[in-house]
Amino acid sequence: MEELRQKYIAAISEAADEGALEALRVQAVGKKGEVSLKMRELGKMTPEERKVAGPALNALKDEINSALAAKKAALADVALEERLKEEWLDVTLPSRPTRRGTIHPISQVTEEVTAIFADMGFAVAEGPQVEDDWHNFDALNIPGHHPARAEMDTFYMARAEGDNRPPNVLRTHTSPVQIRSMLKHGAPIRIICPGRVYRCDYDQTHTPMFHQVEGLAIGKDISMANLKWTLEEFFSAFFGTHVETRFRASHFPFTEPSAEVDIRCSWEGGTVKVGEGDDWLEVLGSGMVHPKVLEAGGIDPEQWQGFAFGVGIDRIAMLKYGIPDLRAFFDSDLRWLRHYGFGALDVPTIRGGVSR
Ligand code: PHE
Repeated sequence: MEELRQKYIAAISEAADEGALEALRVQAVGKKGEVSLKMRELGKMTPEERKVAGPALNALKDEINSALAAKKAALADVALEERLKEEWLDVTLPSRPTRRGTIHPISQVTEEVTAIFADMGFAVAEGPQVEDDWHNFDALNIPGHHPARAEMDTFYMARAEGDNRPPNVLRTHTSPVQIRSMLKHGAPIRIICPGRVYRCDYDQTHTPMFHQVEGLAIGKDISMANLKWTLEEFFSAFFGTHVETRFRASHFPFTEPSAEVDIRCSWEGGTVKVGEGDDWLEVLGSGMVHPKVLEAGGIDPEQWQGFAFGVGIDRIAMLKYGIPDLRAFFDSDLRWLRHYGFGALDVPTIRGGVSR
């Protein structure tokens, strides 16, 4: 029995893998294993012999079984160790580059404009892109016969057959949001309205859809002087350098007096630099809100007055970030988007601290 014990304990401790262990189990304690056969011989023994041999054989069987179990666990540990060594990874390695989307320059610039005007106490208002002709034209003092209607290259929405109401339009400017805001909130008011506008036009500097931001400030004593200060403050913050403006008398049906506003710039080597030089670049339309427009907005022009302006977002985005062709904004060309786009964490580049 001692021989059997030594033989199997030694063999088990040397077994190389689970297969070898299983073979040893069958050979020792399996149905026809050596230990099992010995147990069968117990029947032929005298009771005295059996008293000694029986417990000894049982103990041997237990010992072999627990040696098998222990070895099995040890083999599993080794296998795990091996695997861990092989599958080791260096968590300090830099990750693989993943393609991330970018913030479109229009979105970025809209954020910048909003941040600057928010600093000056302007709230953001929005309106629908499909407008009725009253909000887009009549309420802004552009009656049906007015040439401005034709000049704006308006897109008209189709009406169902037999529906004789005047057609809705894709708004040609953000000015209808002035009317909606006045009707909703009354005076005083200080808002900007960024958004999409539509005109049937297409070349290097015109696309059928583009972006404007409207400004409107109504109070008891708001004047052109406030308009000029506000715009210079805005352009200086936006371009990060002091920007002078030049007001030229102009005409819009919805403002009186009206002014087109130029900013100082230089053209050198075909690139434009804002804030320096002897040239002027037209960037927006503005003026004092026409009394008829105030009335259409439900505001008494005997008590209130204010200024309004409209500026092209795409236009000033091109100027600030040196983007040559407007059409590329809306081509969805990935190479362009990666080049001109912004990271999600890029903070708007505006000159901090608007002076008040
Ligand atoms: N709505 C005008 C345009 O689109 C711009 C403008 C807005 C002019 C407000 C004056 C006042 O051209």
